Amino acid sequence: MIELKISETPEEVAESFARDLFQMINQTNGHFHLVLSGGSTPRLLFDHLSHDYASRMPWEKIHFWWGDERCVPPSDPESNYRMTYDHLFSRIDVKPDQIHRIKGELTPEEACRLYVDEIGDLIPEHGHLPLFDLIILGIGDDGHTASIFPDQIDLLVSKETCATATHPLSGQKRVTLTGPVLNNARQVSFLVTGKSKALRIAQIIHQENSAVHLPASHIQPGSGRLSFYLDREAASGIK
Ligand code: 6PG
Repeated sequence: MIELKISETPEEVAESFARDLFQMINQTNGHFHLVLSGGSTPRLLFDHLSHDYASRMPWEKIHFWWGDERCVPPSDPESNYRMTYDHLFSRIDVKPDQIHRIKGELTPEEACRLYVDEIGDLIPEHGHLPLFDLIILGIGDDGHTASIFPDQIDLLVSKETCATATHPLSGQKRVTLTGPVLNNARQVSFLVTGKSKALRIAQIIHQENSAVHLPASHIQPGSGRLSFYLDREAASGIK
């Protein structure tokens, strides 16, 4: 069952998700392992969290992970870690050992191996797969999610926790969590805004036959807890 949460604007999507995240974290005892998405959409969420929750959120409970990373140094403008640092970590009280970045400065294979080791050390397992508490995902115009692209859709059923990938247009090397790990999470939340995503959202929500080619449409956590936080534009194709 997909939970739809539609807000008027991207800012209201960020506010809506932040409220729910705040409630989830406060209801959690112990650590909360949160997987972040990259790209541009989460920027508004991170700005909102750092401005409105800096002193309210129990940041010390949260461990930050990524669903994917570009294979660039952490100082690179393309880095998902850098974007998160600029818009969130640099403005809140978070300790380095709470941040588990994918080391994009290494070779994709080495970054992947180290990330798998770190996940293995810290994340509990369920069904022999890492069990993250919440995974935030975005959707690309081509229907990719994390760095599982339509031309590498086999990563949806990989036996590995983490894999290397290549952006089909730019050729940029990526490291990504794989489909079985994403689907093993207690909860998955897609944050999607903008008119350019409306077609893909409609295909996925209406489970159209064409959605089979969209990696994002195959993210259906076994826990059943799947939510879409959309703005009016991204939701405009939903009947
Ligand atoms: C990345 C992301 C990727 C992103 C989508 C949507 O590293 O780029 O993890 O999966 O979520 O491409 O990106 P936008 O939010 O920029 O539209």
